[in-house]
Amino acid sequence: MRFTTLIPLLSLTPAVYSWGELGHRTVAYLASKHFTRDASELVNTLLANDQGWDISDGAIWADAIRHRNGYTHTGEWHYIDALDDPPNYCNVTYTRDCKSGPGCIVDAIANFTSRINNPHLDLVQQKEALMFIIHFIGDIHQPLHTEHLSRGGNGIKVCFDAHCGERENLHGVWDRAIPHKRRALSAAESDKVILKAAAAAWAEELYLREEKRAAQCDDVETAQMCALEWASEANAWVCGFVLEKGQAWLEGNDLGGEYFEGAGPIVDELVGKAGLRLGNWLNALAAERAAAETMLVQDGERSEV
Ligand SMILES: *[C@@H]1O[C@H](CO)[C@@H](O)[C@H](O)[C@H]1NC(C)=O
Ligand SMILES: *[C@@H]1O[C@H](CO)[C@@H](O)[C@H](O)[C@H]1NC(C)=O
Repeated sequence: MRFTTLIPLLSLTPAVYSWGELGHRTVAYLASKHFTRDASELVNTLLANDQGWDISDGAIWADAIRHRNGYTHTGEWHYIDALDDPPNYCNVTYTRDCKSGPGCIVDAIANFTSRINNPHLDLVQQKEALMFIIHFIGDIHQPLHTEHLSRGGNGIKVCFDAHCGERENLHGVWDRAIPHKRRALSAAESDKVILKAAAAAWAEELYLREEKRAAQCDDVETAQMCALEWASEANAWVCGFVLEKGQAWLEGNDLGGEYFEGAGPIVDELVGKAGLRLGNWLNALAAERAAAETMLVQDGERSEV
C-alpha cells in the first residue's frame, strides 16, 4: 500500500542532478570500508560537527548547497559535458569538453584534491574541499554526468514502471529510479534513516563481492588525468548502454523492465568503482597529510635544540 500511495509524489519531488542520496551515501560508506586509520582520522576530524553527521551526510552536501547564495557557481562542477554523439560515438576530452571559466567535474576534482591538505586554508575550507571530493568522485561515475546530449539526459522524457511524470527523465532514472528499484526502495523514498540503512547494506554487498582489484589511477599528484580517465570510462557506458538504443527507443519504451535489468549490474559496477577509488584517494591524501604533519613536528623539535 505504502508503495502505491507514494508513487504520485514522484512528480512533486524536485529535479535531481546527481546520483541521488542513495548512490552518494553508498559510495561514501563503501569508501570508508577501505580507509586506513589515517583516512578515518582525517575524515572524522574534518567532518566533525555537532549535527551527528557521518561521511554519507558529507557526501550529499554538495547537492544541498548548490542553489545557495555564494555556491551557485558550483553547479557546473558536478559534470563534464562531453560533446560527443551517442550512440554513434562517445569520447571525452579536456580541452573540448571542460568549459574554461565555470570549470567542470574534472578540474573540480583536481582543484579540491589539492585544497584538502593546503595548510594555507582553514579547516572549514578543507572540510568543504573534502565534501566536494566525496560527492564528485561519486558523480563522475554516473554516465550521464559525462554527456552533453539533452543536458545529460535531463531533457529526454521517459517512463519508468508506468510512471511518465512531467519530471521523469533519463538522467533522473539513472540517478535515482534504477538504484532505488535495484535496492527494493520505492522511487520516491526520501526518508533519511531508510536511505542510510539501504546505502550501508548496498555498500556492504559491494565490498564483499569486490575482487581485490587495483583502483586504476589513484595517484593524487595526477588528479586531473585520473579524473579524465574515470570520466571516459563512465562516458563509454553512454554509448555502451545508456543511449545505445537511441533516444526514440528510450522515449517509446518503459524503462522499468528490460532496460532496468540491463542497467542494474552497470550501476553496481560504477558505484563499486567509485567507492573503491574514493577510498584509495582519501587514503593517499591522508598519508600525505600525516607525512606533512610529521615533518612539521620534526622541524619543531629541531628548532628547539
Ligand atoms: C571522438 O570520436 C570521433 C569519432 O571516432 C572522432 O571523429 C573525434 O575526433 C573524437 N574526438 C576527440 C576530441 O577525440
Ligand atoms: C577551486 O576551488 C575554489 C574554492 O571553492 C574556487 O574558488 C575555484 O573556482 C575552483 N576552481 C575550479 C576550477 O574548480
